[in-house]
Amino acid sequence: MKGNRIIGTGTGVPSRIVTNDDLAKIVDTSDEWIVSRTGIRERRIAEENETTSDFSAWAAIKAMEMAGVDAEEIDLIIVATLSPDRLLPATACIVQGKIGATNAACFDLEAACSGFVYGLTVANGLMPELGVKTALVIGAETLSRVLDWTDRNTCVLFADGGGAAVLRHEGGDRGILATYMRSDGSAPPPWLAVTPGVADLSPLGDKVSKDFAITMEGKEVFKFGVRALPDAVMGALARTDGLTIDDVDWIIPHQANLRIIDAAAKALDIPREKFIVNLEKYGNTSAGTIPIALDEANRDGRIKEGDIVALSGFGAGLTWGGVILRW
Ligand code: ACO
Repeated sequence: MKGNRIIGTGTGVPSRIVTNDDLAKIVDTSDEWIVSRTGIRERRIAEENETTSDFSAWAAIKAMEMAGVDAEEIDLIIVATLSPDRLLPATACIVQGKIGATNAACFDLEAACSGFVYGLTVANGLMPELGVKTALVIGAETLSRVLDWTDRNTCVLFADGGGAAVLRHEGGDRGILATYMRSDGSAPPPWLAVTPGVADLSPLGDKVSKDFAITMEGKEVFKFGVRALPDAVMGALARTDGLTIDDVDWIIPHQANLRIIDAAAKALDIPREKFIVNLEKYGNTSAGTIPIALDEANRDGRIKEGDIVALSGFGAGLTWGGVILRW
């Protein structure tokens, strides 16, 4: 389906900034180690009373303001998240209540760090199917609540916050040109998972663990990211009407690690300057990274009308996927 265009973007992040030096006070790490291995310098961490639905709602309000769209005009809200406010109800419904989008159908989508790309893809497909004219696609997380703050392998990487996009069916040749989604459930769960899972708990509820945190095999995930980021771009390009990598003006990758992005730039043989990167300020907010980076580049004028923009997500599942847009 063509003619669905992003007409507004927004970011919602906590105001609390936690630097690498702050983390070095609680785990055995250093600013030098974190910057050289990941590129991350600081990240945003939620206050006690802030949740994924807050970041989602803040981002949504800014995106609707930019789009000039009232909340009642929103027909569909998708929140991509692995850290919903609750298992029940969907965070998208909580966001609906917070922003007053009374006419929207709402659901959450869990595809880890590929969530925003999956969300755009699903919204794009549903727009003709359900007669949806205006959709709000959000990627947001409160990963600080599912981190083991004594595990230096993970707590220095992940963070809180999110972004939103208003997608409107306009017709014409701007907007989403192609989408691509992949998954591989054969990877061993310990590669990247929240452990224990609900499946590990006793059905009789007598074994609820206090340790509920992201565990990760960093090296395996690194190798996967180096493969998946370029594959998501090329897979989506292959579904356009003949666009090639040389036609792409900007790549907005999932912001997990600068070294993964550098390796992908080499694999794709395109200048590193074409990658929009802001992970040094926000860390890895999973489903939040791509819409946060998209909003920054949209607001500062880097992305211009007519530019070809490639979004590339990859994450737990394993999942990965790409979206090609004509801005
Ligand atoms: N500070 C200091 N030392 C650390 C830290 C830390 N925060 N974390 C790990 N180390 C130590 C390790 O314990 C290890 O010590 P040892 O040699 O004594 O055992 C040493 O540093 C080297 O560890 P490596 O794992 O070899 O370091 P590596 O160069 O692989 O970098 C990293 C680790 C940054 C996690 C890397 O593997 C990586 O980026 N992987 C991808 C992770 C990622 O991007 N995850 C999310 C992407 S997907 C998604 O977002 C869902």
